[in-house]
Amino acid sequence: MNRSPLLLVILVAGLAFPAHAQGTLKDRYASQFDVGVAIPPPDQLTPAEQALLLANFTNITPENCMKPESTEPREGVFTFAEADRLADFAKAHGLKVNGHCLVWHSQTPDWFFTDNGKPAGRDLVLKRMKEHIAAEMTHFKGRVVSWDVVNEALDDGHGYLRPSKWEKCIGPDYIAQAFRAAAQADPQAELYYNDYAIERQPKRNKALRLIRELKKAGVRIDGIGIQCHWHLDSIPYRQLDEAIRAFHAQGLKVMLTEVDLDVIPGRKAGASADPFAKACPPQVLKREAEQYGALFALINRDAPMISRVTFWGLQDARSWLTGPGHTNYPLPWGRDLQPKPALQAILNAK
Ligand code: G3I
Repeated sequence: MNRSPLLLVILVAGLAFPAHAQGTLKDRYASQFDVGVAIPPPDQLTPAEQALLLANFTNITPENCMKPESTEPREGVFTFAEADRLADFAKAHGLKVNGHCLVWHSQTPDWFFTDNGKPAGRDLVLKRMKEHIAAEMTHFKGRVVSWDVVNEALDDGHGYLRPSKWEKCIGPDYIAQAFRAAAQADPQAELYYNDYAIERQPKRNKALRLIRELKKAGVRIDGIGIQCHWHLDSIPYRQLDEAIRAFHAQGLKVMLTEVDLDVIPGRKAGASADPFAKACPPQVLKREAEQYGALFALINRDAPMISRVTFWGLQDARSWLTGPGHTNYPLPWGRDLQPKPALQAILNAK
C-alpha cells in the first residue's frame, strides 16, 4: 500500500471511531481513582449516551432523582421509582452509586419545615430529617455505596453555617445529627460532606472547622467532596492543591464531585446572552482543553490523595449550565457525543 491510501484508511477509521482512538477515561484513570458522572435516570439517556457512560465511567451520581423533593415530596410518601431505575442500572453494569443528597437547603419540600401552616419546631424538623435519612438509606442499602449526607451547609459570607431552614429550625447541630442518623441507617455506606468553593478561603477553613467539630463530637464522616464548578480562565489550581492536602491530612477521602467548566464569558452590558449559540469558537475549545489538561496534571500529581473525580453531566447538552438561550460547552464531550479537545487533554495529562 502506498502512503496516501494508508493515510485515507487512518483518517476514515479516526472519523468512525474517534472515542476509541483517543482511549477512555476509565482506561486512563480508574487504576488511580474512581471516575464518575452525574446522570438523570438512565432510561432518559439515549443508547449512544449509555454506551459512552459505560465505556468511560466507574461511578455515577444521580443529578436530581435522589434529592428530597424527588424522593419524599410529601411527608411519609416515598417516590423512589426513578432512583430505583438508576440504582438497578448501576448494579446491572457494575457501576458504584454515590447518593446525592440527603440534607440540603435547596430542592427540599417546605413540608419539612412547617407545622399546620406555621414554622415547625426543632423536635418535629429533627424527627422528619432523621426519618427521611433512615427511609432513603434503608431503601438503597447495598445499592448505594456512599452518600452526600449534607450538601452546601457552609455560609458564603462572613458566617460559619448557611442560615438555612435546617439550621434555623434545628440549630447548628443538625449536621452532626444528620451524620449520626446516616451512620445508624447504613453502617456500611460511606458518609460525605459536599460543598462548592471549599477549595478557597474563607470556605476552606469553615470546612476544616466542620470536620474537626464532627470528629471531636465522635461523629463518623468518611469523606469530603469539593464540587469544582469553575469558569474558563478561573480554575483555582493552587488553592485546589492546598485544599486536597488539608482535607487529606484530616484523614478523610477527598473527591472532586461536580467538575465542569463554564465557558460563557461574563455578560457585559449590551453583549449577547448566548454568544456561542451556533458553535463554540475553536479558540475557546482550545483554552478549555489546556485548562482541563492542567487540572488533570494536578489531579495526577495529587492522585494518591484523591478517591474519585466526577463530572457534573455526561455531555454539553446535558449540563445544568446549558439551557434555553444559554448554549454552554462545559464538559469533555460535545452534543454530538464526540470527544472534544478537552477529553484528549485530560487523557494526555501527565
Ligand atoms: O423536573 C422538573 C420538570 O418537571 C419541570 O418541567 C422543569 C421546569 O423547569 O423543571 C424540572 O426540574 C428541574 C430539575 O433540575 C430537573 O431537571 C429544576 O427546575 C431545576 O432547578 C433543577 O436544577 C438542578 C439544580 O441542581 C437544582 O438546584 C440541576 O439539574 C442540577 O444539576 C443541580 O445540581 C447541583 C447539585 O445538586 C449541588 N451542587 C450544585 C449543582 C449545580 O447547581
